Amino acid sequence: MSTPRPKPKYYLTTPLYYTNGLPHIGHTYSTIVADVIRRYKRMRGFDVFMTTGADEHGVNVERSAKKAGKSPQEYSTAIAAQWRQLWDELGIPGDEFIRTTDERHHRTVQWLFKRCRENGYIEKGHYTGQYCVHDNAYVVDAGPGDPCPDCGRPTETVTEENYFFKLSEFQQKLLDFYAANPDFIRPESRRNEVLSFVQGGLKNLSITRTTIRWGIPVPGEAPHVFYVWFDALIGYLSAVGGPEFDERGLWPADLHMVGKEIIRFHAVYWPAFLMAADLPLPKQIWAHGWLLFDSEKMSKSRGNVVRPRPIVNVLGIEPLRYYLLREIVFGQDGSFSYDALVSRYNSDLANGLGNLASRTLTMIDRYFGGQIPTPPGYGTLGNEPGSADFASEALTRIAQLYDRFSFSLALEGIWEQVATIDKYLTIEKPWTLAEQPENRERLAKVLYTAAEGLRIVTALAHPVLPQSTEKIWRQLGQTTPLASIQMDQLSWGQLKPGTKIGKLEGIFPRVEKSEAIERIEVMEQEQNKAAEAAPATPASAPTATGAAAPVVAAPAKIGIEDFAKVEMRVGQVKSAERVAGADKLLQLQVDIGDEVRQIVAGLALAYKPEELVGRKVVVVTNLQPRKLRGVESNGMIVAASSGPDGSPVLAGFMEDVPVGARLK
Ligand code: MSP
Repeated sequence: MSTPRPKPKYYLTTPLYYTNGLPHIGHTYSTIVADVIRRYKRMRGFDVFMTTGADEHGVNVERSAKKAGKSPQEYSTAIAAQWRQLWDELGIPGDEFIRTTDERHHRTVQWLFKRCRENGYIEKGHYTGQYCVHDNAYVVDAGPGDPCPDCGRPTETVTEENYFFKLSEFQQKLLDFYAANPDFIRPESRRNEVLSFVQGGLKNLSITRTTIRWGIPVPGEAPHVFYVWFDALIGYLSAVGGPEFDERGLWPADLHMVGKEIIRFHAVYWPAFLMAADLPLPKQIWAHGWLLFDSEKMSKSRGNVVRPRPIVNVLGIEPLRYYLLREIVFGQDGSFSYDALVSRYNSDLANGLGNLASRTLTMIDRYFGGQIPTPPGYGTLGNEPGSADFASEALTRIAQLYDRFSFSLALEGIWEQVATIDKYLTIEKPWTLAEQPENRERLAKVLYTAAEGLRIVTALAHPVLPQSTEKIWRQLGQTTPLASIQMDQLSWGQLKPGTKIGKLEGIFPRVEKSEAIERIEVMEQEQNKAAEAAPATPASAPTATGAAAPVVAAPAKIGIEDFAKVEMRVGQVKSAERVAGADKLLQLQVDIGDEVRQIVAGLALAYKPEELVGRKVVVVTNLQPRKLRGVESNGMIVAASSGPDGSPVLAGFMEDVPVGARLK
């Protein structure tokens, strides 16, 4: 029986992330967006519940585990814990974290299968086809050796006995469902894509494997295990009660938030599985675009990932949230750039909202003893910028944009208000009015107007900037937590004259752009190295000082073949110079025997460029080239990290060694 709920429920999910790697900011983007929606919906009166989790079965995890010398269970548990830890650290944890290795999930998958089978939608068959191991998917219409259309890797020919789900029987049912629910797939471009895929005809879908060990057993049908999609998707249901979903009253999901590459699984397979099992269907699937880096999808296999921790350690999570939602048009791809991230931070947060809060509150503190002034005719303010009509128009417009998930436009709209209030202060010059006793009332009106405008923009920005808006809110003397404020109850004039403002503190200190980027990039490099060396080891967490904690490499054992992949040679520094605008980086030309390589290394705080010329160093020569502060670096100099500040000490040799000699 469903328990009656005082508020309407809203159940949303992020994808369940694979545990064959660690999160990058592409994944972080998905979870941040879900968190913004969660916070927004709460401010719209919903009882919101969010699930995230880990998708742990399949060949990729099995392979990664083998590489790390661990069992799949052990390996996957360690990685899943890291995903979870990151979401906690970033303040975006799910209300539920479902692991596909959880017993409750196994039970739900087996139950769903049984229902589909009893309803006649499962059959046994043989399948020979091209299979992409990387994407865990058969490639339809491909011949032996053909590449996978998604990742470009060669496919493998496999034949095996499988259980099939009769997807072909759902073509018309799905088309009817899409027609009756025009908002089921968003945005429109993805809806069209899915529609034409389904109109093109649906083939039955193989949903078990006998070639893989690492999966959920099909009851009584060993060695069959469920194939990834008839496993992972069901996690959304396992998380909220599985077979007993009725008891929690959260199913069906209101929203599955996914990246565009998995829309088909969510918008075609998943509703078909649920229809076959006679279960309620989710209300909406929203596919966002990709974060690109150097014009390509950011992904582990392309080696172009940006990790969230270095950014968060240097700038904080809120600037990252703001940047991702402001800069990327939701639903479309967007390029990630450190430059744009830090520019947005300085212009919109430090000089924008942060500065507005600081100047307004400081003047109230100085001219009115820290109490919100009483404007003349309080309660009957005219149509001054930032006042009644203006505010109610902005509130309606911005709420509509949030409702449509047009985050970028919503933020643009809010920041237009910030600019308007700022301009108002510049024109009204309260600092001059303060020197004219006859203008005391005018001063009260101006500062009240600015503070009330600030209160409203702060509330509007809350879903995106939860912590910093809460701080501004308290500085405005508000005692009810901002998260509990309902947007439709916000209106002009609720700021009570006489309210004592809170303790003033800066919210977004300005940062020096090149220094911030350099710090992020250096930390990023260190963390990537650590993640590659020991993916199943906890990475460094942000510390209280905001500096990265030292990255602790795991004592995980690797085979000699893994070590042999790293090519190290003796190099000799030919020239060294500082990288413009970066304190820590040196640009070196290093002779490695058969060529001279340009390498950018974080050595500048420990070594002067001239000290290095002629010095023999150890160079890792087969790393992917990478740009640091725009300068290409083709290799890495090996150094120990010493002392509490981790300052580098170069590896070297006591005896003389020829340039180009290999290290073994
Ligand atoms: N395990 C499946 C999902 C199963 S859901 C029942 C999976 N996992 S994943 O780890 O590969 O994560 C995929 C999701 O991460 C994408 O759908 C997207 O939400 C996010 N992203 C991964 N790379 C991304 C970008 N470069 N840009 C934006 N989002 C990206 O697929």
